[in-house]
Amino acid sequence: MARKVIIDCDPGIDCAVALCMAVFEPELEVTAVTAVEGVVSADRASRNVQAIIEHLDPPRYPRIGAATPLETAPAVEYRHQYGDDGMGNVGLRVAELHHRRPSDKIICDEVRAAPEEVTLITLGPLTNVAHAFQRDPDLAGIVNRIIIMGGSVGGIGNVTAAAEFNMFYDPLSAQQVFRSPTTKTLIPLDVTRKVAITLSLVDQLPEETTAAGSLLHKVITFAFRYFHQKHGQESIFLHDVVALTAAVHPELFEMVEMAGDVETRGELTTGATVFDRRSNHVERANTEVAVNVDAAAVRDYIVRALRRAGDCTR
Ligand code: RIB
Repeated sequence: MARKVIIDCDPGIDCAVALCMAVFEPELEVTAVTAVEGVVSADRASRNVQAIIEHLDPPRYPRIGAATPLETAPAVEYRHQYGDDGMGNVGLRVAELHHRRPSDKIICDEVRAAPEEVTLITLGPLTNVAHAFQRDPDLAGIVNRIIIMGGSVGGIGNVTAAAEFNMFYDPLSAQQVFRSPTTKTLIPLDVTRKVAITLSLVDQLPEETTAAGSLLHKVITFAFRYFHQKHGQESIFLHDVVALTAAVHPELFEMVEMAGDVETRGELTTGATVFDRRSNHVERANTEVAVNVDAAAVRDYIVRALRRAGDCTR
């Protein structure tokens, strides 16, 4: 039976690609897609989520949640890396937002409707999950699991020297989720960076005549151009896509139980994830952390999932 999941995301190119895979994945029943502010503003994240889902027009429509602006948001240059719309100026028709429901409310409703069955896959800052846990304090105990893209075990960040973007953008929420009793799986940068995606992916994408293919060709081509111009790199990282893969194929990842937390106010380290790996502290482990991955198998799965998205959107 397909697993019920909610995808919480801030699209963003890699979120957009992850959504293309998720909504046509037979192993998953995507009951909701909830927008969160992050690489794009709250309003843009909400519009992008709705525009992507309408463009893909999946057979089973997920509920859609709107993001709420984050008052404590830091200014980050990182935000503008993927064009004005955060998706490589793809020009998706920006849908009118109807029936705007806050993302955290939708998370509460969906988890309450199926206690212990719903997995949250978070591909952006943890704002909505923390708000949902505040709105309904018992919720953390009835979520099946949270799979979080974020953090760094080795301490090398991407938005600052020490912090990964999703943790840095809203460290208070991230800390709250880390300290919650929910079962957590973390897919950190150390592992997502092992899955370099090369230009050969472009040749394997679905035809541009399909709805998924037209979106994927535009956003992925933009990402290759950006990484090349900005970093001189021939390959790209699709962090969120690797995290989504962990939800479908956990056997491709090596996991270790660790005691993890998030720094909320360091002068240089705000948003850094800290793991206590002292051998005598293992009993305090609160998170399953990916430490290695079969990168070739993940890349194969990505191609299969994207081609399926093409087949479903002819
Ligand atoms: O640091 C990588 C994360 O930042 C990914 O979730 C990506 O979508 C961006 O939000």
